[in-house]
Amino acid sequence: MSFPQQRLRRLRRTPALRRLVAETRLGVDDLVAPLFVREGIDEPQPVVSLPGVVQHTRESLRREVAELADLGLPAVILFGVPEHKDAEGSGASDPDGIVQLAIRDLREGLGDRIVVMADLCLDEYTDHGHCGLVTSAGTVDNDATLERYAEVAIAQALAGVDVCAPSGMMDGQVLAIREALDDEAFEQVAVLAYSAKYASALYGPFRDAVDVEIVDGGDRRAYQQDWRNVRESMEELRADVGEGADMVMVKPALTYLDVITRARAELDVPIAAYHVSGEYAMVHAAAERGWIDGDAVALEQISAVKRAGADVVLTYFARHLAEALQ
Ligand code: PBG
Repeated sequence: MSFPQQRLRRLRRTPALRRLVAETRLGVDDLVAPLFVREGIDEPQPVVSLPGVVQHTRESLRREVAELADLGLPAVILFGVPEHKDAEGSGASDPDGIVQLAIRDLREGLGDRIVVMADLCLDEYTDHGHCGLVTSAGTVDNDATLERYAEVAIAQALAGVDVCAPSGMMDGQVLAIREALDDEAFEQVAVLAYSAKYASALYGPFRDAVDVEIVDGGDRRAYQQDWRNVRESMEELRADVGEGADMVMVKPALTYLDVITRARAELDVPIAAYHVSGEYAMVHAAAERGWIDGDAVALEQISAVKRAGADVVLTYFARHLAEALQ
């Protein structure tokens, strides 16, 4: 008898059978849209290396987020592009900084219909392009940076953010932010920590989107993780949960599916994964040449991130997938 061979085929026979036994079900509720808002522009500006992604004006951001809420998306994450950058990244904590204004706009316009997250970092706001304050010797000063992150968290909380998402990979950042929020009676503001964030070559298009160039051809390897390692990710993730993170993130996504799976197995907080700019750009670039079916690859990739164990996926495909999954 050919019993085992037949069994494997039987449940793949029709679309309805395949739907019935599918282990992974990607839905709109799984998705978070990363959005950029830029100070001092009158029209949305396309980001050349991220086809379909723009730097929004306050007004176009408001419209976009209202449409995403109508599509059922549960959350967005905001990144600001300030007009002026300086050594301290002062725009990040300015009450009238672009992200703070955008958070207020969304809160006023949409109330609690959609979760408003804000990336919490300095690199979009510093003239040297690093995620923290830089010493005269040119290295990032971890502990001085924590004080700045606390100020940014308070500014975002005052504007009405639901979730602060620290992405700078400074040691102790979650505790510093949690304590600052609690001291100012912002206990309701949650923290999504970019805990296992690798020094990846896949962030290039993002740096175009936020106009960031690291001074002197530098890189972030002294604070982001080495992509040869996985055990240190578990230390980072556990440390952030211990410091009070409500959710933790692995980033990028596809090159780190093993990290997502381990995180899911060993932790009990929601796990997010960030399908980053380079991952998105590669799909588009190959699809434009007609080499792959971009829509199919997008669905396959984001489903794989969920299958690996992510509860939440941040992706530039969020709007497209939300429309496709209606
Ligand atoms: C830092 C930050 C980065 C991304 C999100 N937050 C860039 C970096 O660490 O260099 C990258 C996201 C992407 O590539 O889509 N504020």
